Amino acid sequence: MRTSESIRSSYERDGWFLSPEVLDEEVVARVTARVEAMGAQERPEVVYEEGTRTVRGIHGCHLFDDVCRRLVRLPALLGLAEEVLGEPVYVYQFKVNMKQPGEGAAWPWHQDFAFWSREDGMPADKAVNIAVLLDEVHEKNGPLRIIPGSHRQGLIEAEAEETHRGGGGNWRKHVSADLEHTVPDPRAEALAEESGTTLAMGPAGSLYAFHPTIVHSSSNNLSADRRALLLVTYNAVSNAPERLSRPEFLVSRDTTPLAAVATNTL
Ligand code: SIN
Ligand code: MN
Repeated sequence: MRTSESIRSSYERDGWFLSPEVLDEEVVARVTARVEAMGAQERPEVVYEEGTRTVRGIHGCHLFDDVCRRLVRLPALLGLAEEVLGEPVYVYQFKVNMKQPGEGAAWPWHQDFAFWSREDGMPADKAVNIAVLLDEVHEKNGPLRIIPGSHRQGLIEAEAEETHRGGGGNWRKHVSADLEHTVPDPRAEALAEESGTTLAMGPAGSLYAFHPTIVHSSSNNLSADRRALLLVTYNAVSNAPERLSRPEFLVSRDTTPLAAVATNTL
């Protein structure tokens, strides 16, 4: 087990790290079963790939599903977030990106903090994403591609023609393959040229953390294997945004500090 010190220093240097802990198979199986059931429901939190009935993502599950409500309180996830941020946290956002075999579409280069700051007015980048691999993630099923160290650039300027600021009505462009607030390809490619890129991969149950301003993308899933990736964004309680125009399933309203449950079981 890595010490807190080494977790924090690799996070500061690279803007991401793979957790030394892996969730048990039963935990992954329970969450996956719930995710599959929720994806089959008609509800506003379920988003489809453009022009299809293929589920792209499911949002805000911690607000309405008991298994997910407990998952965000497991020490393996919550402890990691507290470790990184060094203060009490709450869940700001929760989503599962399904990347279905053959159909799961790409995510262009972007920084998550662009959405949180420009859309919701999040004051600072005192938040962290904890990713949970519900399926094995390998080179061919669309892993997250990260530019290590790119978080140290801070928020990269928006393109001049980008005029939209908040309002909430445009939220579908924050969860689709036609993403708003992207990092222009030439800028991302220059950073990648300089620092290289890393694919975040591992067996189901693996966990990794990544920074709000790290530049990342992922490609289409052209393989026969689904790549369900669950992402919990923990935010420091002191950093709650005030502009609440996007739906609650994209910006949680309850900023009560979370208390961990005792064990890593559901
Ligand atoms: C994200 O960047 O928020 C998700 C990317 C992915 O699911 O591949
Ligand atoms: Mn992202």
